[in-house]
Amino acid sequence: MTLVRESPIGVFDSGVGGLSVLLAIRQELPAENLLYVADSGYAPYGDRDADFIAERATKITEFLLQADVKAIVVACNTATVVSIAKLRAWCPVPVVAIEPAIKPASLSTRTGIIGVLATRQTLASPSVARLCADHGEQVQILLQACPGLAEQVEKAELNSAATRALLLRYLEPLLQAGADTLVLGCTHYPFLSGLIRDIAGPEVAIIDPATAVARQLARRLAD
Ligand code: DGL
Repeated sequence: MTLVRESPIGVFDSGVGGLSVLLAIRQELPAENLLYVADSGYAPYGDRDADFIAERATKITEFLLQADVKAIVVACNTATVVSIAKLRAWCPVPVVAIEPAIKPASLSTRTGIIGVLATRQTLASPSVARLCADHGEQVQILLQACPGLAEQVEKAELNSAATRALLLRYLEPLLQAGADTLVLGCTHYPFLSGLIRDIAGPEVAIIDPATAVARQLARRLAD
Protein backbone atom coordinates (compact mmCIF):
# COMPACT_ATOMS: atom_id res chain seq x y z
CA MET A 1 0.00 0.00 0.00
CA THR A 2 1.42 3.41 -0.96
CA LEU A 3 0.93 6.24 1.49
CA VAL A 4 0.45 9.27 -0.72
CA ARG A 5 -0.86 12.59 0.46
CA GLU A 6 -4.01 12.21 -1.65
CA SER A 7 -4.97 8.97 0.12
CA PRO A 8 -8.00 9.68 2.25
CA ILE A 9 -8.37 9.34 5.99
CA GLY A 10 -11.16 6.90 6.81
CA VAL A 11 -13.56 7.82 9.60
CA PHE A 12 -16.44 5.68 10.83
CA ASP A 13 -19.24 5.46 13.37
CA SER A 14 -22.52 3.60 13.78
CA GLY A 15 -24.29 6.54 12.15
CA VAL A 16 -24.08 10.32 11.96
CA GLY A 17 -22.49 10.83 15.40
CA GLY A 18 -18.93 10.56 14.13
CA LEU A 19 -19.56 13.64 11.98
CA SER A 20 -18.82 15.59 15.19
CA VAL A 21 -15.30 14.14 15.00
CA LEU A 22 -15.12 14.63 11.23
CA LEU A 23 -15.79 18.35 11.76
CA ALA A 24 -12.89 18.60 14.21
CA ILE A 25 -10.62 16.75 11.76
CA ARG A 26 -11.68 19.08 8.95
CA GLN A 27 -10.69 22.06 11.12
CA GLU A 28 -7.37 20.57 12.21
CA LEU A 29 -6.39 19.12 8.81
CA PRO A 30 -8.22 21.18 6.18
CA ALA A 31 -6.18 19.86 3.22
CA GLU A 32 -6.84 16.15 3.83
CA ASN A 33 -9.31 14.01 1.91
CA LEU A 34 -11.81 12.42 4.28
CA LEU A 35 -13.91 9.33 3.70
CA TYR A 36 -16.76 8.81 6.17
CA VAL A 37 -18.70 5.61 6.76
CA ALA A 38 -21.96 5.78 8.71
CA ASP A 39 -23.01 2.21 9.49
CA SER A 40 -26.63 3.35 9.47
CA GLY A 41 -28.06 -0.07 8.62
CA TYR A 42 -26.87 -1.27 12.03
CA ALA A 43 -27.15 1.93 14.13
CA PRO A 44 -27.30 2.33 17.02
CA TYR A 45 -24.48 0.17 18.36
CA GLY A 46 -24.99 1.08 22.02
CA ASP A 47 -27.20 -1.81 23.08
CA ARG A 48 -25.79 -4.41 20.70
CA ASP A 49 -23.61 -7.36 21.51
CA ALA A 50 -19.86 -6.58 21.75
CA ASP A 51 -18.90 -9.31 19.26
CA PHE A 52 -21.36 -7.98 16.71
CA ILE A 53 -19.97 -4.44 17.01
CA ALA A 54 -16.37 -5.71 16.76
CA GLU A 55 -17.30 -7.60 13.57
CA ARG A 56 -18.84 -4.45 12.07
CA ALA A 57 -15.67 -2.50 12.96
CA THR A 58 -13.55 -5.15 11.19
CA LYS A 59 -15.76 -5.11 8.07
CA ILE A 60 -15.74 -1.32 7.84
CA THR A 61 -11.97 -1.21 8.37
CA GLU A 62 -11.51 -3.73 5.54
CA PHE A 63 -13.74 -1.59 3.32
CA LEU A 64 -11.77 1.56 4.13
CA LEU A 65 -8.46 -0.19 3.44
CA GLN A 66 -9.76 -1.18 0.03
CA ALA A 67 -10.32 2.52 -0.58
CA ASP A 68 -6.60 2.98 0.16
CA VAL A 69 -6.95 5.06 3.32
CA LYS A 70 -3.72 6.10 5.04
CA ALA A 71 -5.24 6.20 8.54
CA ILE A 72 -8.47 5.22 10.23
CA VAL A 73 -10.35 7.11 12.91
CA VAL A 74 -12.81 5.11 14.99
CA ALA A 75 -15.21 8.00 15.65
CA CYS A 76 -17.28 5.89 18.01
CA ASN A 77 -16.65 5.28 21.70
CA THR A 78 -18.69 2.09 21.64
CA ALA A 79 -16.75 0.57 18.73
CA THR A 80 -13.47 1.69 20.32
CA VAL A 81 -14.03 -0.03 23.65
CA VAL A 82 -15.02 -3.36 22.09
CA SER A 83 -12.63 -3.53 19.14
CA ILE A 84 -9.64 -1.23 19.28
CA ALA A 85 -7.03 -3.72 20.50
CA LYS A 86 -8.06 -6.30 17.89
CA LEU A 87 -8.15 -3.72 15.08
CA ARG A 88 -4.72 -2.36 15.90
CA ALA A 89 -3.29 -5.89 15.98
CA TRP A 90 -3.80 -6.41 12.24
CA CYS A 91 -4.58 -3.07 10.60
CA PRO A 92 -1.60 -1.91 8.48
CA VAL A 93 -2.34 1.84 8.86
CA PRO A 94 -2.53 3.94 12.05
CA VAL A 95 -5.84 3.61 13.91
CA VAL A 96 -6.82 6.60 16.04
CA ALA A 97 -9.71 6.14 18.43
CA ILE A 98 -11.97 8.05 20.81
CA GLU A 99 -12.78 7.19 24.40
CA PRO A 100 -14.63 9.10 27.14
CA ALA A 101 -12.56 12.10 28.34
CA ILE A 102 -12.55 10.99 31.98
CA LYS A 103 -8.93 12.02 32.55
CA PRO A 104 -9.27 15.70 31.53
CA ALA A 105 -12.59 15.93 33.38
CA SER A 106 -11.06 14.53 36.57
CA LEU A 107 -8.26 17.10 36.35
CA SER A 108 -10.52 20.10 35.81
CA THR A 109 -13.54 19.47 38.08
CA ARG A 110 -13.91 21.88 40.99
CA THR A 111 -16.65 20.06 42.88
CA GLY A 112 -14.80 16.75 42.53
CA ILE A 113 -17.83 15.18 40.87
CA ILE A 114 -18.02 14.40 37.15
CA GLY A 115 -20.78 12.85 35.07
CA VAL A 116 -20.07 10.60 32.09
CA LEU A 117 -22.78 10.24 29.42
CA ALA A 118 -22.34 7.26 27.09
CA THR A 119 -23.96 4.13 25.74
CA ARG A 120 -24.58 1.08 27.95
CA GLN A 121 -21.98 -0.92 26.06
CA THR A 122 -19.32 1.78 26.53
CA LEU A 123 -19.96 2.17 30.25
CA ALA A 124 -19.93 -1.60 30.84
CA SER A 125 -16.52 -1.98 29.17
CA PRO A 126 -13.18 -2.81 30.81
CA SER A 127 -11.75 0.36 29.17
CA VAL A 128 -14.08 2.60 31.16
CA ALA A 129 -13.46 0.56 34.33
CA ARG A 130 -9.73 1.16 33.80
CA LEU A 131 -10.22 4.90 33.20
CA CYS A 132 -12.29 5.13 36.40
CA ALA A 133 -9.68 3.20 38.37
CA ASP A 134 -6.84 5.36 37.01
CA HIS A 135 -8.52 8.74 37.51
CA GLY A 136 -11.22 8.19 40.11
CA GLU A 137 -9.18 8.25 43.28
CA GLN A 138 -9.66 11.93 44.05
CA VAL A 139 -12.96 12.44 42.25
CA GLN A 140 -16.36 10.85 42.15
CA ILE A 141 -17.21 9.56 38.66
CA LEU A 142 -20.92 9.10 37.95
CA LEU A 143 -21.61 6.90 34.93
CA GLN A 144 -24.90 7.62 33.19
CA ALA A 145 -26.01 5.34 30.36
CA CYS A 146 -28.25 7.15 27.88
CA PRO A 147 -30.27 4.59 25.90
CA GLY A 148 -32.33 6.22 23.17
CA LEU A 149 -30.24 9.38 22.92
CA ALA A 150 -28.17 8.41 19.87
CA GLU A 151 -31.44 7.42 18.15
CA GLN A 152 -32.79 10.95 18.70
CA VAL A 153 -29.71 12.33 16.93
CA GLU A 154 -30.09 9.78 14.11
CA LYS A 155 -33.66 11.10 13.68
CA ALA A 156 -32.28 14.68 13.65
CA GLU A 157 -34.41 15.47 16.73
CA LEU A 158 -31.82 17.82 18.17
CA ASN A 159 -34.27 20.09 19.93
CA SER A 160 -37.54 18.19 20.29
CA ALA A 161 -39.62 17.80 23.43
CA ALA A 162 -38.89 14.06 23.46
CA THR A 163 -35.13 14.63 23.31
CA ARG A 164 -35.33 17.24 26.07
CA ALA A 165 -37.34 14.88 28.27
CA LEU A 166 -34.80 12.10 27.76
CA LEU A 167 -31.90 14.43 28.54
CA LEU A 168 -33.64 15.77 31.64
CA ARG A 169 -34.02 12.21 32.90
CA TYR A 170 -30.32 11.50 32.38
CA LEU A 171 -28.88 14.84 33.50
CA GLU A 172 -30.94 15.61 36.60
CA PRO A 173 -29.41 12.91 38.84
CA LEU A 174 -25.91 14.05 37.85
CA LEU A 175 -26.61 17.72 38.43
CA GLN A 176 -28.38 17.03 41.72
CA ALA A 177 -25.37 15.02 42.87
CA GLY A 178 -23.20 18.11 42.26
CA ALA A 179 -21.48 17.24 38.99
CA ASP A 180 -19.84 20.36 37.55
CA THR A 181 -18.32 18.58 34.54
CA LEU A 182 -20.08 16.43 31.95
CA VAL A 183 -18.13 14.13 29.66
CA LEU A 184 -19.76 13.48 26.28
CA GLY A 185 -18.75 9.84 25.95
CA CYS A 186 -20.60 9.22 22.69
CA THR A 187 -19.91 11.04 19.45
CA HIS A 188 -23.63 11.59 18.85
CA TYR A 189 -24.02 13.78 21.94
CA PRO A 190 -22.12 16.92 20.81
CA PHE A 191 -25.06 17.49 18.45
CA LEU A 192 -27.17 17.89 21.61
CA SER A 193 -24.77 20.24 23.37
CA GLY A 194 -27.19 23.18 22.93
CA LEU A 195 -29.91 21.32 24.84
CA ILE A 196 -27.42 19.95 27.37
CA ARG A 197 -26.11 23.46 28.03
CA ASP A 198 -29.66 24.72 28.39
CA ILE A 199 -30.49 22.09 31.02
CA ALA A 200 -27.15 22.09 32.85
CA GLY A 201 -26.68 25.87 32.91
CA PRO A 202 -23.63 28.01 32.16
CA GLU A 203 -21.48 26.88 35.11
CA VAL A 204 -21.20 23.25 34.08
CA ALA A 205 -18.29 22.28 31.81
CA ILE A 206 -19.12 20.05 28.85
CA ILE A 207 -16.18 18.03 27.56
CA ASP A 208 -16.07 16.69 23.99
CA PRO A 209 -12.74 15.07 23.06
CA ALA A 210 -13.18 15.48 19.27
CA THR A 211 -10.51 18.18 18.94
CA ALA A 212 -8.03 16.13 20.99
CA VAL A 213 -8.68 13.17 18.67
CA ALA A 214 -8.11 15.34 15.58
CA ARG A 215 -4.80 16.58 17.06
CA GLN A 216 -3.73 13.04 17.86
CA LEU A 217 -4.49 12.10 14.24
CA ALA A 218 -2.39 15.04 13.00
CA ARG A 219 0.52 13.86 15.18
CA ARG A 220 0.24 10.29 13.89
CA LEU A 221 0.24 11.51 10.27
CA ALA A 222 3.26 13.74 10.94
CA ASP A 223 5.12 10.71 12.38
N1 DGL B 1 -21.59 7.39 18.39
C1 DGL B 1 -21.31 6.17 19.02
C2 DGL B 1 -20.46 6.30 20.26
O1 DGL B 1 -19.64 7.17 20.30
C3 DGL B 1 -22.34 5.09 19.00
C4 DGL B 1 -23.69 5.39 19.49
C5 DGL B 1 -24.59 4.25 19.17
O2 DGL B 1 -24.59 3.82 18.02
O3 DGL B 1 -25.29 3.75 20.09
O4 DGL B 1 -20.55 5.51 21.16
